[in-house]
Amino acid sequence: MKFSSALVALVAASIASAEVTWEFKKYDNGVEVDFEEGPATKFQTQVLQRVSDARKRNRASFAGRKAATTVTSSNWCGAAVTGSDYTSVVGTWTVATLSRRSGQSSSSDPALAQWVGIDGYSNDALIQGGTLSQLEGSSQENYAWTEMLPASLKQISLTVKTGDSITTNVTATGTDSGTVTIINNTRGTSVVGKVSGGTKLSQTAAEWILEDFESGSSLVEFAGFPTQTFTGTAVHSGTSESPASATLIDIVQSSKTLCSATLSGSTVEMTDS
Ligand SMILES: *[C@@H]1O[C@H](CO)[C@@H](O)[C@H](O)[C@H]1NC(C)=O
Ligand SMILES: *[C@@H]1O[C@H](CO)[C@@H](O)[C@H](O)[C@H]1NC(C)=O
Repeated sequence: MKFSSALVALVAASIASAEVTWEFKKYDNGVEVDFEEGPATKFQTQVLQRVSDARKRNRASFAGRKAATTVTSSNWCGAAVTGSDYTSVVGTWTVATLSRRSGQSSSSDPALAQWVGIDGYSNDALIQGGTLSQLEGSSQENYAWTEMLPASLKQISLTVKTGDSITTNVTATGTDSGTVTIINNTRGTSVVGKVSGGTKLSQTAAEWILEDFESGSSLVEFAGFPTQTFTGTAVHSGTSESPASATLIDIVQSSKTLCSATLSGSTVEMTDS
């Protein structure tokens, strides 16, 4: 990007990010309780950074698994359905237990995020919600968060622990507004965030993603993890759609595949590799 256009983009981003506003409510078994906003974070999850275009991966040898189209990315792993008029996406996952990869120093803080969202697959808009986990020394920190680009992610006061079952529903209520509901299934607590003022959505994709997110403007070290899954559906022109025919996305960094996505029926599986 030329400096002048970089500057314009920077100015445009700061104007737009000042306009992203969130309003949160928290519930405990259906009863509204006090909501506390989490501290500001330097973390931001980003739109798909594509490494290579779609290729067909033939999985005919696996019973019940179809050949799926796979793209590779430096930051996203998981599945995306694409088309028009995506209004909602729901996903359920377990907060992953992280580990350090071979070669990562014991003083490193590797991390990953698990989320569902609308857009960001082939455009610069993205509304999403999920969890973020990071190893700090020998302990693992987990946060629940929401994000609408171009603003950074917002940490919210829903306690999340390693192994918790989380369901998140991201719904676009307009081209620059939406509702994100994050539920702790184990305990019955939830937070509902209503947002407006983000980058205009085109609603052309819905996705279930395990991400190597950014801190500042560089990728954090990507943590190791046991195989993770997402279940859930998207709503597309008023019709429910499972990930069964989604495009799969693998994370490749420095020519090494770090995460590969597969489908088992309509369950998305992400394997550390
Ligand atoms: C979510 O459920 C788990 C139980 O596994 C609990 O440890 C955690 O504190 C719960 N979070 C909230 C906010 O209730
Ligand atoms: C997702 O959230 C929207 C908006 O709050 C709601 O209308 C819809 O019913 C929710 N979907 C599911 C499957 O819970």
